[in-house]
Amino acid sequence: MSNCKICEQQIQPFLEFGKMPRANAYLDKDGFANEQFFELGVGFCEQCKLVQLLNTIPPEKMFHDDYAFLSSTSRYMEQHFASLAEDIIATHINDPASAFVVEIGSNDGIMLQHFAKHQINHLGIEPSKNVADIAISKGLTIWNDFFAESTAKQVCHEYGQADIICAANVIGHIEDLRSVGQGLDLLLKPDGLFIFEHPYLVDNIQKNAFDQIYDEHIYYFSLLSVQAIFPRYGLEVVDVKWQSVHGGSMRYTLARQGVHPVATAVSERLAREQQLGLDQLSIYQEFALQAQQIKRELLELLTTLKQAGHRIVGYGATAKSSTVLNFCGIGPDTIDYISDVTPCKQGRFSPGMHIPIKPYSDFCNDDHQYTLLFAWNHTEEILTKEQTYNQRGGRWIVFVPHVNVFDML
Ligand code: SAH
Ligand code: TYD
Repeated sequence: MSNCKICEQQIQPFLEFGKMPRANAYLDKDGFANEQFFELGVGFCEQCKLVQLLNTIPPEKMFHDDYAFLSSTSRYMEQHFASLAEDIIATHINDPASAFVVEIGSNDGIMLQHFAKHQINHLGIEPSKNVADIAISKGLTIWNDFFAESTAKQVCHEYGQADIICAANVIGHIEDLRSVGQGLDLLLKPDGLFIFEHPYLVDNIQKNAFDQIYDEHIYYFSLLSVQAIFPRYGLEVVDVKWQSVHGGSMRYTLARQGVHPVATAVSERLAREQQLGLDQLSIYQEFALQAQQIKRELLELLTTLKQAGHRIVGYGATAKSSTVLNFCGIGPDTIDYISDVTPCKQGRFSPGMHIPIKPYSDFCNDDHQYTLLFAWNHTEEILTKEQTYNQRGGRWIVFVPHVNVFDML
């Protein structure tokens, strides 16, 4: 039995996948024999309402000098972060010449570059050296380190406190939220703002997105749980805004208690989450049943297509695909290869199931009829981009919110 990482109450497991590989650990053939697996499962804390992994692996094993996820592989995400940065500058930065912005998990600089463009003093904290180096090559100021209380102390010492601390798709990756909270408390100016985005638990549940569950995603936030965590460190949620990215995300804006007015969106969103039953174990148990149902239906569909002699190609070697493939036991006998634009994934094999990952040009030059869309969170961008495939009647297979096959003719 696991205890909640925040309030230490016993948590209720609701979905256990068994042994899984690390989701972003793409391998060469010589790595197959020593591949590492861990028990993947999620549980719900009835006390603080936080959904979380039952077992975790050390951060250094996930975030290192060969981290496979590059933020700037999606044009839509580039636009999203440009507009988030511009919005922060227009709304919250009175004097760009004296402002200081810190980003936690800045990856290849997808967001921070927009603050730099406005000559705003900035610092990215990014532990994965290969992606930090890309941001540095863009002229950005980056510390290649994990954000924690100790890092915050050093930043304060060298730069002083921050007006804005932002973080996208990273706070749920950091197990020690106590250290994050204390770091924020040290680093944030008295009237500063902490703005973070994360895939939203309500969307995960409503879209049956069980593939969002993997080693790096330690926490699955709702407003209910965010409100249970951050007041421990003197921060309150002053605004929330839903975002369409990553299959549905929430942008949480936090400030020191009592300093900024609280938008009505906060109480409205909280009421909605309670009405949906996000504070009850039963909604998560139902989600687990849906995951099993999707597994059955997807396997049935793929088996039928293979029996009819079709070739199937995967689109996007996402971390999420590791969960789907390993949970369902889908390997290279079913999926010929997965196409991905990320250079460091190409020529390697998917974790656990060892499906080859090939460059995007292979997809463009192929004549296959079926594509399994692993990067479903980028559906709009991909369907717009794949006019040639669509026009030749290529069919798309999706598995969230339900298994479905469609074409664009
Ligand atoms: N913010 C980017 C990247 C998200 S991926 C985006 O939204 O696209 C998560 C990133 O967080 C990775 O680059 C990873 O190296 C980084 N990360 C993981 N743990 C971290 C920590 N403790 N402090 C700062 N960054 C961290
Ligand atoms: P993403 O779904 O953003 O995240 P995660 O790995 O956390 O699940 O990953 C998208 C992957 O799909 C990434 O490896 C880049 C790839 N990709 C393409 O190959 N082509 C595209 O057009 C897009 C948008 C993404």
